[in-house]
This record gives sequence, structure tokens and C-alpha cells, in this order.
Amino acid sequence: MIELSTRHLALIGFMGAGKTTTGRKLSDALGRPFIDVDAELERVEGKSISLLFSERGETWFRDREATLTQEILCSEPPAVIALGGGAPVQEETRGYLRDRARVVHIDETFENCWLRASGSDRPLAKSESKFRQLFEERLPIYSSLADCAGIGMVDILLSLGEIRVATGAYQQLEELVPGDNPFVLIADESVLSLHPPPSTNRISSVHCVPSGERAKTVSVCESLWESLQVDRSTELVALG
Ligand code: S3P
Repeated sequence: MIELSTRHLALIGFMGAGKTTTGRKLSDALGRPFIDVDAELERVEGKSISLLFSERGETWFRDREATLTQEILCSEPPAVIALGGGAPVQEETRGYLRDRARVVHIDETFENCWLRASGSDRPLAKSESKFRQLFEERLPIYSSLADCAGIGMVDILLSLGEIRVATGAYQQLEELVPGDNPFVLIADESVLSLHPPPSTNRISSVHCVPSGERAKTVSVCESLWESLQVDRSTELVALG
């Protein structure tokens, strides 16, 4: 796991995904400064992004964006940084991100991105079909670069702690448990009666303990220990 405290937390994702809003909340929650690269660029240049695009053109903007993003990624102290949606397209910037940040992809849907961005003055959010094309081109770049993904502060904080919240996760145990080895499932009797083990050959055995306080005894622990046939490589899945 990458140590967060020495690295920036960089938020990437498409226009309108919520990088700035979520970035502010994450900076409060983590007690870190917040830097919005677009806002910083507008401050340094003294003009809005849409004006810079129309006066100087996209090529100038991309160069300026790359230099500033890289400078911010090299700065101290570790911050929460919201990048412009196009910044990770530059290969050099991706290198800085890999070296200096924990990268979070705000993987908002196309529909929500368009809903938010179409009402703004973003120069690349004028036509829905071009916006969609860009969205589809960039998605693989964002996902291959990101250490984790999510939408909203809580989702991202959990994802940073390698906790995944998903509807139907129990049925996907086979894919969620790392590796290919068989694993052991432990749960109490009421949980098991409500949620029978999913059908997968990877579950080598199921161990049932009494529900609630009755299970919190040395003898339950002892009999569980004796019935478990495990070695150092066995994965245990505890279902609560
Ligand atoms: C762009 C995204 C914008 C801004 C510029 C170009 C892009 O930032 O940098 O309009 O190419 O995706 P946001 O992602 O913060 O909207």
C-alpha cells in the first residue's frame, strides 16, 4: 500500500466529475491544503480558462497546464490537488503523478458530467457528441493511472483504505478475495441463515459460530481454531 502521508492526493477525472467539490471536502477531512490547478492557473495568468483558450489557443493552454501541474506536484507540503480534466493526457504529467501522488479517479458517469459541464463556460463542453467522444477517449487513461476510484468523499476515503463498498459484493467474493487459492468463510448462524455462502469452488470450508455475545468466549474461539485447517497462505473471510 502506498503511504499517503508523504504524497499528494491527486484527483483526476472528467470535466464536471466533481474534482473541486470533492477535493475541498477531502482537504477538510484530511487536514491538508487544497489546490485547484485550474483556479491556480487563472490566478497566475489573471484570466479565465475560457478566455485563455480563445486568446492563446489549446496548445498554449496544454503546455501551461502541464508546467503548472508538474510544479504543484513537486511542491510541499502534501496537499489535495484537483487536476484539470485534460492534464493526465500528457505522458510527462502522468509520470509526475505516479512518482509523487496517490491518484484518485473520480469516476462519475457521462450523464452527470454532461449535466454539470454543459451549463458552464468550459470551452470543451459546447457539443454533447464531442464531449462524449473525449469522455470515452480519456476513461482508459484515467483508470489505468488511478490507484483507486470513487465518487464523493466517503467513497474515496474508504477506497483509499482499500475498502470497497458495492451492492452485490457478497456474490462477487470469488473475485474480491486476492489470489486464486481456496479461502475459508466464517460467520455467525443468523448471518449464514440470511446469506448462504455464494456458490464458488474457492470456499474450502464454512465455519459457523453462535450469534451475538454467546460467541465471545474462549471455548468458541478454541473450537473454531481446532476446526480451521489453515496455514500461512490461507485467506479467512469473516462475514458480519
Ligand atoms: C479541460 C478541463 C477543465 C479545464 C479546461 C480543459 C479538459 O477543467 O482545464 O476547460 O480538457 O478536460 P475541469 O476538469 O476542472 O473542468
